[in-house]
Amino acid sequence: MSAKTSAIPVIAIDGPSASGKGTIAERVAGALGFHYLDSGALYRLIALAATQAGVALDDEGSLARLAEELEVRFSGGEIYLSGQIVTNEIRSEKCGIGASRVAALPAVRAALLERQRAFRIFPGLVAEGRDMGTVVFSDAKLKVFLTASAEVRAERRYKQLKEKGIDANIRTLLLELRERDERDSARSVAPLQKAADARELDGTGLGIEEIVRQVLDWYRQKAAGSRHL
Ligand code: C5P
Repeated sequence: MSAKTSAIPVIAIDGPSASGKGTIAERVAGALGFHYLDSGALYRLIALAATQAGVALDDEGSLARLAEELEVRFSGGEIYLSGQIVTNEIRSEKCGIGASRVAALPAVRAALLERQRAFRIFPGLVAEGRDMGTVVFSDAKLKVFLTASAEVRAERRYKQLKEKGIDANIRTLLLELRERDERDSARSVAPLQKAADARELDGTGLGIEEIVRQVLDWYRQKAAGSRHL
């Protein structure tokens, strides 16, 4: 990484499924005029591309090649895979579960590293996922680990799916979330864990605005602190 790139600030927001990372990261990015990376979307896209191409979700070599060659574009709130809009399709639970399976494979993660780092563009980046603060942007200016109880997260996911017209069952969602948390936390490579220098934020009883304000306050404190060095 060049000295120029390392000067571009990154805010890393990690946490378990449906903890609200996406909404918070987008709002924080909007408030600061920063770019936004939804790293989970990349894993979901690999799962979708693999299903379309008939590649098994444990075929590490083929999946890593797919990850390298993936033709992805994020534009105007839509996500394109090989020119096709797949924004809603990748939000399905099937893609989420597939994503969590392919994400456990080291060669797939390695293939996505540079692609993720390429999002670090002036004036700054808000990146959300599982390993933004621990691996991909370990020099992030601010690291936040956002949690919420499994029940609150299952409810949130239920509402999101319903809004998209996708049928869902809250008890099944809760079970799937717990299973996904378990797989994401137990994997040997880049497991879901709080970075040693991350601030933990439990959003269980908090509204979106309060969480966004807290993250912005932390960031501004950090930015002011480094200006005074
Ligand atoms: O955040 P989202 O639910 O879209 O992520 C889907 C899956 O992708 C997660 O369950 C996780 O297994 C994987 N993931 C990851 N590392 C990231 C982002 C997502 O392993 N940085």
